[in-house]
Amino acid sequence: MSTIGAAIIGCGAIAPLHARAILSMEGARLVAVADSDPERAAQAAQDYGCESVTDYKQLLGRTDIGIIHLCTPHHLHAAMAVEFLQAGHHVLTEKPMAIDVSSAQRMQEAAAVSKGQLGVVFQNRYNEPSIRIKETIDSGILGQLICMKGIVTWNRNEAYYTESSWRGKWATEGGGVLINQTIHTLDLLQWFGGEITSIKGSVTTDVLNEVIEVEDTAHACILFKNKVRGLFYGTNAYSVNSPVELELIFELGTLLLRRDCLYLWKDGHETLLCEPLSTAVEGKSYWGTSHNLLIRDFYKHIIDGREFWIDGNEGIKALEVITGIYTSSEVSGKKWAMDSLKLT
Ligand SMILES: NC(=O)c1ccc[n+]([C@@H]2O[C@H](COP(=O)([O-])OP(=O)(O)OC[C@H]3O[C@@H](n4cnc5c(N)ncnc54)[C@H](O)[C@@H]3O)[C@@H](O)[C@H]2O)c1
Repeated sequence: MSTIGAAIIGCGAIAPLHARAILSMEGARLVAVADSDPERAAQAAQDYGCESVTDYKQLLGRTDIGIIHLCTPHHLHAAMAVEFLQAGHHVLTEKPMAIDVSSAQRMQEAAAVSKGQLGVVFQNRYNEPSIRIKETIDSGILGQLICMKGIVTWNRNEAYYTESSWRGKWATEGGGVLINQTIHTLDLLQWFGGEITSIKGSVTTDVLNEVIEVEDTAHACILFKNKVRGLFYGTNAYSVNSPVELELIFELGTLLLRRDCLYLWKDGHETLLCEPLSTAVEGKSYWGTSHNLLIRDFYKHIIDGREFWIDGNEGIKALEVITGIYTSSEVSGKKWAMDSLKLT
């Protein structure tokens, strides 16, 4: 069996999940890591037994590296992805794929003419409750979906923003709680609901306005073409990281995600449909625990020569939802630092 070589760019908080997924996979080899911080690069190389570089450009075009994992700050994803795609590599980028829609479109264009594929890490689509919800919608077993809501109440304190200087700034994070933390839940809502006809939202900074430029709290009402109404609330201003909550009301029953368990409420009875796998699964539970599943699936598609399903065209959708929330919030009167976002 031939082996596919990989490299990770950016050796910060999320990189170990990517590294351990690669190291655990038969047929994959972690060839190199890159980080502009020499100590981080060297430490990661020691941890994972691979080469390290401080300038990622040294990896461009290397024939022993098929797949590039982008684990860098948000504002770097687009340019790096385009460079690696143009050099013929496959690119798996962490979310968000870019900090604005026009940069994401450049990535799509680069992927369209590259022999490499572009994948976006929305690992929560691989969580069992997400799959069960999507199957229920598509099968129609509970009738039509009528409405749904998603609630994310997490905590990001001052230390979180000061330990990585790119966070909390429009130019480098591209937004706050919307683009960094709640993008997963917004992606699920749009995946469940389908085509969107309108978005009305608002964003505020409720707690950390001395520390961050961007919003820490947001709400939105999303209307879908099929008349489904989606409500969303997300904040980083809670005291703890609570599990994400979802509710989907169908004609014949309701699905509820509570404490990572999926329940069906039907005919006056509640039934547990699925529970979290175990506490030993890789990743913080509130991030979702499915990084490993998504990374393995990306590799499988590459090895089998099939198109990965969460590509640039899928990855951009959550970014468009977020853009809609920022834009409508601006219309409602609050002046946000929109210029750096280059919103379309
Ligand atoms: N999917 C998820 O659930 C999830 C969870 C956490 C983070 N993330 C995403 O992962 C990405 C990284 O986040 P993080 O929390 O690990 O950030 P981090 O700040 O901890 O790490 C980023 C790393 O990139 C390095 N870097 C910066 N500029 C670079 C350059 N030019 N070349 C090479 N390396 C460079 C930094 O030195 C740092 O080590 C972000 O897109 C973030 O949103 C995703």
